[in-house]
Order: sequence, then C-alpha cells, then structure tokens
Amino acid sequence: MSHSPVPRLQLALDHTRLDAALETAQRLHHQVDIVEAGTLLCLSTGIDAVRQLRQLLPGKTLVADFKVADAGATLAKLAFEAGANWITVICSAPLATFASALEVARQHQGDIQIELFGHWTLEDARRWRELGLKQAIYHRGRDAQASGQQWSPQDLDAMKALSDLGFALSVTGGITPDELPQFRDIDVKAFIVGRALSESADGLATAADFHQAIANIWGH
Ligand code: 5RP
Repeated sequence: MSHSPVPRLQLALDHTRLDAALETAQRLHHQVDIVEAGTLLCLSTGIDAVRQLRQLLPGKTLVADFKVADAGATLAKLAFEAGANWITVICSAPLATFASALEVARQHQGDIQIELFGHWTLEDARRWRELGLKQAIYHRGRDAQASGQQWSPQDLDAMKALSDLGFALSVTGGITPDELPQFRDIDVKAFIVGRALSESADGLATAADFHQAIANIWGH
C-alpha cells in the first residue's frame, strides 16, 4: 500500500522588519522544510526580503507570498529572479494572470501556489487544474480568525474535493499544533505557520511540537 508523504512544515515570515525576519529564519530554518517571505514582509520591506532570504538559505525551498492579482509575468519574474521557488497568486486573479505567472515559473523551474482566500468555486478549481496548476493553499484569514472563525466541516469537505482534483494542498491561518488532529483525514502537503512559530517564546520547542503532532497523526 502506498502512503502520502507526511505533511511538511512551512515557516511564514510576516515580520515588518527584515532584520527580525532574517533572525527568525536563521534560528528556525533547520526545523522547517519550507520558508516563506510573507505578504506582510514583502510589502514592508520589498523584494530585498526574498533576495536576502535566498542568500541566507541557499538550499531551502523559498516562497514569495505575493498574492498576485494582476501582472502575473512581471511579478513572477521579480520573485523568481530574486530567488523564490514558488509564488502565490490569489484565487480571484483572472486565468490570464495564472497563465502568465505559470509560464514564467516554468522558465525558472518554479511553481505557482493558488491562494484560496475569499470566494472561489470547484468549477474555478477545475479550470486551474486544466491550466496545469498543481498547488493550492487553503487559507483562513487572520482577520477572520481574530473574529472567531473556526475550521468547519465545509472547509474540510472543500479540502478533500481539492485533493480529489489532484491539488497538493497547503493549509494555513493561525495554525497551532493542537489544531492538527482536525486535519487527520486530509492529504496535506504542508502546514504554513507564521505567528505560532515566530512569536513563540521558544520557537524551536514549538517547531518540535508541530513535528511531534504530525508524526502522531500521519506517521506510518
Ligand atoms: C497571511 C498569511 C500568513 O503568512 C499565513 O496565514 C501564516 O500566518 P499565521 O500562522 O500567523 O496565520 O499568508 O495572509
């Protein structure tokens, strides 16, 4: 019987200062599989965030969380030339933006992640697959989370439907180790974690808690 790989752990750096983001990356990168220049970091400090993270972590998978909505080729070129492996494109972007970003991604052996945030449909998801997109991020927004939004059975059903369409799925939005059991029946490629790691008094211990929870739930 073949098993899916266990979910990976992605560190999202949403600092508003680049020195603080680099310090967190330096401290925690050995304990995570993927590092992300978060939207807040990119907007606060610009493309230098991606460049400096690439310099600091030459061999690491690096995501530029641009949440691109337009000008797919231009923004993809900016991110990939700065050293990103993957960039995010928001689900409300037109198919033409996905197509142009994907073309540039392929030229750089990179990939596009669809940021599922706000309204989208399974019909959209089918079109994204037809275009050749393979990765999606299921996202509970930080504002929605702050207003009390929990993961619902509808969320889990939507995640399963996306997996059935063939998407490799990342899950994010205020994730903590205690929340992981809710996702035990979902084929999760990665959990993307920002504040729970970067704002922890002991980020290394928190990363270990994530890995332990992942091993307990998905260990084969
Ligand atoms: C915000 C993001 C965040 O990077 C992502 O949700 C992870 O952050 P946190 O774990 O702090 O919610 O994409 O739009």
